Amino acid sequence: MDLSSNHRGAWGSRIGFILAAAGSAIGLGNIWRFPYVTGENGGAAFVLFYFIFVLIIGLPVMISELAIGRHTQKNPVGAFSALANRSWWPLLGILGVATGVGILSYYSVIAGWTLGYFIKAIGGSFTDMNGEQAMQHFTQFVSDPKTSLIYLVVFLGITGMVVMGGVSSGIERWAKILMPVLLFLLIVLTLRSVTLQGAKEGLAFYLKPDFSKISLSMLANALGQALFSLSLGMGTMITYGSYIAKRENLAISAGYVCLFDTLIAIISGLMIFPALFAMGLDPEGGPGLVFVVLPTIFEQMPGGFIFGAGFFLLLTVAALTSTISLLEVPVAYMVDEKKWRRPKAVLLMTLLALILGVPSALSQGAVSWLSNIPLIGLGFLDFANILLGNYSLTTGALFIAIFVGYKWGVKNVIKEVTLENNQFYFANLWSFLIRFFCPIAILAIFMYILITRNYF
Ligand code: PFF
Repeated sequence: MDLSSNHRGAWGSRIGFILAAAGSAIGLGNIWRFPYVTGENGGAAFVLFYFIFVLIIGLPVMISELAIGRHTQKNPVGAFSALANRSWWPLLGILGVATGVGILSYYSVIAGWTLGYFIKAIGGSFTDMNGEQAMQHFTQFVSDPKTSLIYLVVFLGITGMVVMGGVSSGIERWAKILMPVLLFLLIVLTLRSVTLQGAKEGLAFYLKPDFSKISLSMLANALGQALFSLSLGMGTMITYGSYIAKRENLAISAGYVCLFDTLIAIISGLMIFPALFAMGLDPEGGPGLVFVVLPTIFEQMPGGFIFGAGFFLLLTVAALTSTISLLEVPVAYMVDEKKWRRPKAVLLMTLLALILGVPSALSQGAVSWLSNIPLIGLGFLDFANILLGNYSLTTGALFIAIFVGYKWGVKNVIKEVTLENNQFYFANLWSFLIRFFCPIAILAIFMYILITRNYF
């Protein structure tokens, strides 16, 4: 049921919105990225700072984005134009829309791999595979241009079809089905992992902080991971907020989304580290961790075929609810501002993401001029991931905090949250965090990166 009186669409229910927003937040960022970044940054101490950043930067920025969206009922560009016309602020919306298409392009490449691995798992490709063979298998798989491109097209096609369905009948309906399936599969796999022999060491690495591991670069990574994981800094939550009914409590909804996202990240770590240590593998395995390590682990487990297929299905599902939100941002922009019809907007934006995704899809393989960015020495996909998924989102979050704190004003956010007698608990604390703590903390991290020239 569509509750809005205008043509834009709206969430049909409160739980529908929370599931859709949690679906956006929960994705490859939690299940693929969080464990490997945790592994590379020393384990439990990183996890602790990640939690702190979710609470004191992520949650305040999310409340801000939702309030901007619901107040203006617009996409990011339209929202900033409405609140600060004839200024530079709408550029922040443009940055968000561009970042959305950009992240969608390379994110869909990785999501395509997960779909490919699910199909491989069903076909029994992972039988009797040791670590080295799994590594070879992965390298071969991702470096075949045809396979990468086909899965990219298929995955983007599925995303486009869901977004075509619109807000309540497309995004919300799918989120309601997909999110519970995800949670169920994750819990089953975690139970399997923590009961493996030798799982204890992995639990200690993951849960017992070693404070000697704290460093400024670890803090920067924890902040980047928190923003990426919560889908903040590019206006996704402005867009999703624009479909929320006035009677909903934005602060409480934001709290639920942060809670669910963090819970899934915690569970993903619980699923991966015990199994990893039980198999005597290296936690600093990097981005290939999930694709290389897990198939070998599942093969050594009774019923591993089912767990393996289940896991990659789970990862595909999680990625899909995130790509849906990434595509919705540019689509909402085109529908609102350029008055395009939804099908046209979906078709053209999906096509754009596909074209932009080609270099990422090919950069793992034989097309050598795309494999390394001169001077930086990264593959194109990793380069895009850091530039867009890290710097662009952090810049966005910084300016959203400044916009709310000093341009639109914290009072207006509080007014929006407390509509229809809703309570905004800790409103003063939120004001302090968004005006002072968030901008200063994010700027400090940027300064550190500039000074140390540790860009990539
Ligand atoms: N939050 C998603 C994840 O953790 O996989 C990725 C993402 C989606 C980032 C939407 C940014 C965004 F706007």
